[in-house]
Amino acid sequence: MSDDSRLIAGQEEPDDVEVDGSLRPRRLHDFVGQAHAVLQLETFVAAARGRGEACDHVLLAGPPGLGKTSLAFIVATEMDSRIHTISGPALERKGDIASILTALEPRDVLFIDEVHRLPRAIEELLYPAMEDGAIDIVIGQGPGARTLRLDLAPFTLVGATTRAGLLTTPMRDRFGISLRLEHYTPDELARIIQRSAGILSMTIDAEATAEIARRARGTPRVANRILRRVRDVAQVRGWPAVDQAGALEALDLLGVDEDGLDRADREYLRAIAERFAGGPVGLSTLAVALGEDAGTLEDVYEPYLIQQGLIQRTARGRVLTARGRLLAGMDDAPGQPSLLD
Ligand SMILES: Nc1ncnc2c1ncn2[C@@H]1O[C@H](COP(=O)(O)OP(=O)(O)OP(=O)(O)O)[C@@H](O)[C@H]1O
Ligand SMILES: [Mg+2]
Repeated sequence: MSDDSRLIAGQEEPDDVEVDGSLRPRRLHDFVGQAHAVLQLETFVAAARGRGEACDHVLLAGPPGLGKTSLAFIVATEMDSRIHTISGPALERKGDIASILTALEPRDVLFIDEVHRLPRAIEELLYPAMEDGAIDIVIGQGPGARTLRLDLAPFTLVGATTRAGLLTTPMRDRFGISLRLEHYTPDELARIIQRSAGILSMTIDAEATAEIARRARGTPRVANRILRRVRDVAQVRGWPAVDQAGALEALDLLGVDEDGLDRADREYLRAIAERFAGGPVGLSTLAVALGEDAGTLEDVYEPYLIQQGLIQRTARGRVLTARGRLLAGMDDAPGQPSLLD
């Protein structure tokens, strides 16, 4: 399963970074969808700006590729602040985070990606930093050691996580603003694709846009990735514009199916269908069957399958819905091939 989890596990391919960078929305008004999160940020950023203060700390949670990093940068831009980016697991020593924190200027944004993977000692150092704007440093050793409290400039910590469930309670409670990003609707994805096509100087009609949007797994990163591949096909075939037939040909070449399910999704559904008779099956059992971490199934794979009405989480475990059973070929005449093949 992990082989092909790339599309949804969200690791950016090297060739994505540059293009993705330019496709990234820069301001709140460029950011499509997530109306609830955007409205909250707009309001709280405006309030903080009006008072000349730093914005409160922001936690952004949600599956990969939905715009967490983009929003972190947008918060800094809208605050007219500098942003410093660090990744949770890359921080090892307390000294590293202490020197980053003490170098912050008023209203700076400190973006910590994968904030659920911060080492414990660093997380504990962040508690007083977030709550009281100070850190405690121990100087010396043994009986002569003493603690020195250093005041920090007022700053905004923006934390991003795909695994909100792994965040410790004290950490979670210190974020004044907590936003959960959801998968995008096909209409929202269509708007994102149109915007990206403009930036990439592509001509693509509404039907072709809708076709890609429907198959992008509710995820802007996937939509942009498909769009770029469609652009490659159009270029090689010499098409001046992409219409529905062109999009279908390109999608076919890419092996993206009609529901936008990727191989990991299909394996997940097939496992419940074939090994557990459609469920219910407990999360940990399913995780073992798929050779995947239970938390990853829960936070990364399942939200889209649930949103698509293919599976349900019940007290007794995961169950395929009628639509999920159909897709997995369970309710067909015996011997008929599953739609997942
Ligand atoms: N609301 C949006 N409007 C337009 N484009 C978007 C939006 N959200 C995301 N994108 C596009 O999708 C790409 C991926 O978004 P981003 O890197 O912010 O996701 P992420 O949530 O940080 O993912 P990960 O968990 O993998 O780090 C961006 O580069 C951008 O091109
Ligand atoms: Mg990110």
